[in-house]
Amino acid sequence: MIKINDLYFTYYPESENPQKALTAVSLSIKEGEFVSIIGQNGSGKTTLAKHLNAILTPTKGSVLIDGINTRNKENLWDVRKKVGMVFQNPENQIICSTVRSDISFGPENLGINRVEIENRVDKSIELMGLSKYQDYPPHMLSIGLKQKVTIAGVLAMGTKYIIFDEPTSMLDSLGKKEVFEVILNLRKKREVTIIYITHLMEEVLKSDRTIVMSEGKIVLDDSPKKIFSKLKILRSLSLDVPIIPDISSRLNKRGISIPSQIITTQEFVNCLKQL
Ligand SMILES: Nc1ncnc2c1ncn2[C@@H]1O[C@H](COP(=O)(O)OP(=O)(O)O)[C@@H](O)[C@H]1O
Ligand SMILES: [Mg+2]
Repeated sequence: MIKINDLYFTYYPESENPQKALTAVSLSIKEGEFVSIIGQNGSGKTTLAKHLNAILTPTKGSVLIDGINTRNKENLWDVRKKVGMVFQNPENQIICSTVRSDISFGPENLGINRVEIENRVDKSIELMGLSKYQDYPPHMLSIGLKQKVTIAGVLAMGTKYIIFDEPTSMLDSLGKKEVFEVILNLRKKREVTIIYITHLMEEVLKSDRTIVMSEGKIVLDDSPKKIFSKLKILRSLSLDVPIIPDISSRLNKRGISIPSQIITTQEFVNCLKQL
């Protein structure tokens, strides 16, 4: 379980121009959950994500990963063994000369034996559909495949929690679809807990739970269905509204009543058929 208690974070607190980024954030994430995080640019999503694997540590409050406090420097390695992170830009995360060696890099640093490393790397390569690319130099691959290489690398580390910070935002539409597909497959297995930052509402809809951030605070924490029925709040935060609730609210204004819990295209079609 991840437990965040009353977390505050300020960049450059001692400077003339301190930047408050997180205010009174409290949050628990259970094992096996698939939690999405949305919010405008600058709302604090990345800052929050970086607290989960101790890239940043709280100005005030605490972050506990399975009870391990990220604040203590001697816990850093234990935290990183539990929480992996995939960023927006795969270019900054790839370091080795072949796909296979890149995926092996993380587990090699964990001090586990060769056989176990090879097993994990094989499994990750297979899961990410990278078998035919394993001897390629990563820089030859498309950006979508590069992102799959970074995900495979995190999987091979065997971390229990994986934070994805807008992993599809730099990819073309096919890349977005393919990378999100592999993440959904991971979710099906429920072996990892997924914390997924995105601005794509169709991705949010697939999560179990959605956290909405604004100005460094959590403003909503609910199922995506419930969140997307709060159109006013979403619009006031300048967030996208998924297409179906948007159409429904227009139809409602014209006297055609579609319930707010109708979110997916299939639900919408079924509802129209019954009118
Ligand atoms: N390295 C940094 N130095 C100073 N301020 C930062 C830095 N990174 C982010 N911020 C500020 O912290 C706030 C939250 O940013 P961020 O966590 O990146 O938001 P998001 O990921 O939701 O776009 C913003 O006001 C941003 O300007
Ligand atoms: Mg960000």
